[in-house]
Amino acid sequence: MIDIVISANNLTKKFGNFIAVNNLSLEIKKGELFGLLGPNGSGKTTTIKMMTGQLKPTSGSVDVLGVDAIAQPIRVREIVGIIPEQESPPSFLTAEEYLHFVAKIRKLDNIEEKCDYWFDFLEFEDQRQILCKDLSRGTRQKLMFAQAFLHEPKLAFIDEPLINLDPIIQRKVKDYLLGYVKKGGTIFFSTHVLEIAEEICTQIAIIDKGKLLYQGRIKDLKKKRQTLENFFLKLVKE
Ligand SMILES: Nc1ncnc2c1ncn2[C@@H]1O[C@H](COP(=O)(O)OP(=O)(O)OP(=O)(O)O)[C@@H](O)[C@H]1O
Ligand SMILES: [Mg+2]
Repeated sequence: MIDIVISANNLTKKFGNFIAVNNLSLEIKKGELFGLLGPNGSGKTTTIKMMTGQLKPTSGSVDVLGVDAIAQPIRVREIVGIIPEQESPPSFLTAEEYLHFVAKIRKLDNIEEKCDYWFDFLEFEDQRQILCKDLSRGTRQKLMFAQAFLHEPKLAFIDEPLINLDPIIQRKVKDYLLGYVKKGGTIFFSTHVLEIAEEICTQIAIIDKGKLLYQGRIKDLKKKRQTLENFFLKLVKE
C-alpha cells in the first residue's frame, strides 16, 4: 500500500432509487491536504461516511490506511480522526469531561496533558467546565476538532472544518492542518469555502450529483491562472 492512504473504487450509494454517490473512484496519497468540493447535496458527506465505515456502500470498495472500511468499520474509526458534519458533543457532559471521555475510549496516556494542549491551543480554557449544551456553536466546533486530533491520527476526515470559527481560530486551524500534513499526516475534508480550499489544499476533487467531475492539484489550476471559484462554477454549470 506504500503511500496510498485512501483508495476508493467505484463507490456507489443509493437511497432507494436515488443515487447519492455514483461510481466514485479516488486515490489519495500520504501528506495530501485533500479538499472535496461540490454543491449542496452532491454527495460529500455520504462519501466521507462510506470512507469512515459509518455507511455501507451499495457497491464498490474503500480501503483506508490499508484497512477495508466496509469489512472493518470499527477498526477504521479507531485509527482515523473524524469531525462529522452535524453531530455535537453530548449535551450532558462538560467540555473537559467530553475530551477525557474520548481520550479514555482511545486508551490514551497523559490524558490531562493532551486535553490541556487543545484547550490552550484553541483558546477555550475558560469553557472547560461548561456543559456542552451551553457552549456556543463555534466552541462546540473547537471541541469536535480537538476530539478528532486527540489521538494524533495519521489521517483525519473533516466535514466542513472551519465554519463557525472566528478568524483568529480559523488561522490557527489552517496552520495546524498545514503543519499536520507537512509532518506526514493526511487530511480529507469537504468544504464550500473555495478560498480556504484554494489557500490550503494540495489537491481537490469536485463532485456533482454524486459524480466525480475533477481531481487535480491546486498548483495546476494556479498555473493556468484559473481561480478555483471560476473553475468550480464553470465545471458544475456545464
Ligand atoms: N439517509 C439518507 N436517506 C436518503 N437520502 C439521503 C440520505 N443521506 C443523504 N441523502 C441524500 O443524498 C444526497 C447527498 O447528500 P450529502 O449529505 O452527501 O450531500 P453533501 O454534498 O454533503 O451536501 P452539503 O453540501 O449540503 O453538506 C442528498 O440528496 C441527500 O438528500
Ligand atoms: Mg455535507
